[in-house]
Amino acid sequence: MNDIKTDTSVLNTPERSYKGQDRVFSGVQPSGTLHLGNYLGALKKFVKMQDQMECLFCIVDLHAITVWQDPKLLRQQTHEITAAYLASGVDPKKAIVYNQSRVRAHTELAWYFNCVARLGWLNRMTQFKDKAGKNSERMSVGLYDYPVLQAADILAFKATHVPVGEDQRQHLELSRDIAAKFNHDFDAPDFFPLPEALVQGPGAKILSLRDGSKKMSKSDPSDNSRINLTDSADDIAKKFKKAKTDAGVIPETVKEMEGRLEVKNLVGIFAALTERTDQDILTEYAGQGFGVFKPALADVAVEKLEPITNLMRRYLADPDELDRILAAAADRATEIAEPILADVRKTIGFSGA
Ligand code: TRP
Repeated sequence: MNDIKTDTSVLNTPERSYKGQDRVFSGVQPSGTLHLGNYLGALKKFVKMQDQMECLFCIVDLHAITVWQDPKLLRQQTHEITAAYLASGVDPKKAIVYNQSRVRAHTELAWYFNCVARLGWLNRMTQFKDKAGKNSERMSVGLYDYPVLQAADILAFKATHVPVGEDQRQHLELSRDIAAKFNHDFDAPDFFPLPEALVQGPGAKILSLRDGSKKMSKSDPSDNSRINLTDSADDIAKKFKKAKTDAGVIPETVKEMEGRLEVKNLVGIFAALTERTDQDILTEYAGQGFGVFKPALADVAVEKLEPITNLMRRYLADPDELDRILAAAADRATEIAEPILADVRKTIGFSGA
């Protein structure tokens, strides 16, 4: 298996780009609503990235249906994610924000890649094993094939950089292996780039407010474990108030936070929201108890998130406009992918290609 580089400083470095064409592809599943961890770990960064290189931000509804989805909810959650992206500052004039099922290239390339990827490679995917548990015989074929579709997402655009969480490393590695095998099998050494993962650095990861050993997640059964982008100011204050801490006070140095996972998380959230360093926050609050720190944190969170939440509501009140934005972006995505797919068909040797 190929190695993945995790350096986030690779953005916009011409020597790493693919034939001068740097391109970011990111995928998010339309399940559940987005939360503070998504905002700080992904959305905020996407807003910066869209000025640095061409970005495709894809809502992967084809991946979502690998387990059954309520059709009404699928449509609604696709809109919610779109609204969250736009409200956070992702600009549809700069970045391409669309849902996967609007662009045929994903499914077409996934089939070709099904014929490139080996069973043994898929059998090693830990995410399938985790999701399927003991029930693998009763899972959909699509769930098993999920990482091949993911490779097709990225390579249909010859994307070079893929922002992902730690849990997606193995899937990215598989994408590189598929790209390399395609290039090799068809004697087309540079056909596909080997996409690089942009894994969030340590500290960027936002943890559950109830349990510092888990990350903040939309699938956590406890709603108190996360701040949703749709939460009211009251909800936000309550959730931070209930957030797990310890009997200590805010320490003076970062080193003293070692082992105090929940405290470190709250300080990290404060720092990320205000674009200051952890040390800065500690210097300001050292010696204070959480009765002082938590309300201050809730205040900055509300200040940052309220405008986003309000804008999200405005977008969601106009689903036709959201659909227009998605459709226009899907057209742009198709324009990029179509010539690449035409080349793929020719390379494979289809008559008529
Ligand atoms: N599997 C990714 C996740 O669950 C979502 C995804 C689908 C994705 N296609 C992608 C991520 C392509 C990056 C690139 O997070």
